[in-house]
Amino acid sequence: MLTINPTDLKPAEIQNYLQYAIAPRPICFASTIDKNGNVNLSPFSFFNLFSTNPPVCIFSPSRRIRNNTTKHTLENILEVPECVINIVNYNMVQQTSLASTEYPKGVNEFIKAGFTELKSELVKPPRVAESPVQLECTVRQVISLGETPGAGNLILADIKLIHIREEILDENGKIDQEKIDLVARLGGDWYCRVTKDNLFKVVKPITTLGIGVDALPFSIRNSKILTGNHLGQLANVEVLPDRLSVETYSDQHPEIKVLLEDTANDAIKREERLHQQASTLLDQGLVNEAWMVLLAGSNLQ
Ligand SMILES: Cc1cc2nc3c(=O)[nH]c(=O)nc-3n(C[C@H](O)[C@H](O)[C@H](O)COP(=O)(O)O)c2cc1C
Repeated sequence: MLTINPTDLKPAEIQNYLQYAIAPRPICFASTIDKNGNVNLSPFSFFNLFSTNPPVCIFSPSRRIRNNTTKHTLENILEVPECVINIVNYNMVQQTSLASTEYPKGVNEFIKAGFTELKSELVKPPRVAESPVQLECTVRQVISLGETPGAGNLILADIKLIHIREEILDENGKIDQEKIDLVARLGGDWYCRVTKDNLFKVVKPITTLGIGVDALPFSIRNSKILTGNHLGQLANVEVLPDRLSVETYSDQHPEIKVLLEDTANDAIKREERLHQQASTLLDQGLVNEAWMVLLAGSNLQ
């Protein structure tokens, strides 16, 4: 294992390791204005949602590593403490990157990158018309993390108005995770796109109290076939199925009976095949069925 003390590295090297590891990061495309009304538009991936009531986002225009100067976005916010955070989708990603060009102060990146200004309702900076979600924000606080190259400046932005393009909504009026077509920033020049193929669900253990991996039977916990993800799924149940339901399940699934007969004299083989079947079921999200299979061939209940 490579172990690094950040104080032993140059700022650009620290940035490289951390941006590859702390990824993907959502992109805040921030529009701001200076006290003379000049508009600025820049992307920031040091960005996230930190509170929903009140709704607060934070993003961070860092000091430039190259020459330790501050970003126009920060300077504008110190003059006019407002911004619009525009969410970036795949169709916008190349122009968004173009907007990160170090144009001189006062240059409007809406124009340079070819985006359309849309008047905001509550704040002075305009919205990006092409963005699927536009958040009008007032700035609650700016926290400087230092004066050295690479030091961040946390902009705590109170979300005052949320605009959502209707074409990304589902039939219930909620944002459809596939339709919004988000992109995110990773290390170096890498980005990723949230597509149907790479979306999956993990059941939230909010109302349930899973038994926990420590409570799994030894042979399951130490399985050579079941992965950490499988153990996480199995341990998220509150109680194991009782013997009667396992027997009923086995009666309804003759292939389990066949498996048990085939491996009657080989306990290791039996466990291996049961774990293989369970892993296939778990990969399909069928946790209860996986438990039935695992318990069918054992005295674990
Ligand atoms: C996708 C993307 C994400 C970025 N994230 C950040 C960031 O989180 N912090 C930062 O200081 N610069 C970030 N940059 C670089 C800034 O966008 C760039 O320095 C920009 O020119 C700053 O503009 P400004 O001086 O007009 O505010 C990012 C660039 C891109 C393309």
